[in-house]
Amino acid sequence: MTLVKLGVNIDHVATIREARYKGVTQGEPDPIEAALICERAGAHGITAHLREDRRHIQDRDIWQLREQIKTRLNLEMANAPEIVEIALKLKPDIVCLVPERRQEVTTEGGLDAAGHLAALTETRKKMADAGIEVSLFIAPELSQVEASAKIGSQFIELHTGSYAEHFNEPARREHELKRLVEAAQLAHRLGLQVNAGHGLNYDNLKTLHQVPHLVELNIGHSIVSRAVFVGMERAVKEMLGLLDGYRG
Ligand code: PXP
Repeated sequence: MTLVKLGVNIDHVATIREARYKGVTQGEPDPIEAALICERAGAHGITAHLREDRRHIQDRDIWQLREQIKTRLNLEMANAPEIVEIALKLKPDIVCLVPERRQEVTTEGGLDAAGHLAALTETRKKMADAGIEVSLFIAPELSQVEASAKIGSQFIELHTGSYAEHFNEPARREHELKRLVEAAQLAHRLGLQVNAGHGLNYDNLKTLHQVPHLVELNIGHSIVSRAVFVGMERAVKEMLGLLDGYRG
């Protein structure tokens, strides 16, 4: 049993399906089947992002995931009324609130928790009433960690995109690691549980072990990419192997 958990984001299985079957209610590859294989391989949770533009995961996917998976369902979502309504009915185990812009290829920046205290607190309360935990996807900035604690979310997810992007530049990588370490330490002191994700892959994961207090890592693109060559089960097992040795 590893000390840090792996949540597999299966969005890009749906991306491949939508490339061929957009607007059709069936098609391959099936993200649900992928999620079930991830669970069999040892993943601790499944993450899916129901975007407002429905570019990959569709509504039917999240309902089937809710019905079929045995581990935790983490629904990534914008704090938008339509999606909040869906989440309250779906009752995932946890929602991760993320910023969303139509033009972006993937979630680019963190949530401005500090700038949206009232709106995020309102959604956090609605989720709490429905028995759903809340995570806030934020950049590793101390002001955002403090705002997350004020909002009262149980979790934050530290955005590792900048760390991943600069992984091959030693000085910048150290700088990004330091930001993650300090944000995780502050979050822990404030009673927040700490997840992390975005851009993590088979090369940059071991170095991330330096960040303390991590509960779960959410990883998608690199696992789905590797699965194209070695299959989903092996891709997940290899990633789990890289979590081994994490000391918290
Ligand atoms: N965590 C969050 C909040 C995300 O928005 C994403 C991307 O959808 C991920 C993790 C996974 O990122 P990646 O696909 O780069 O592993």
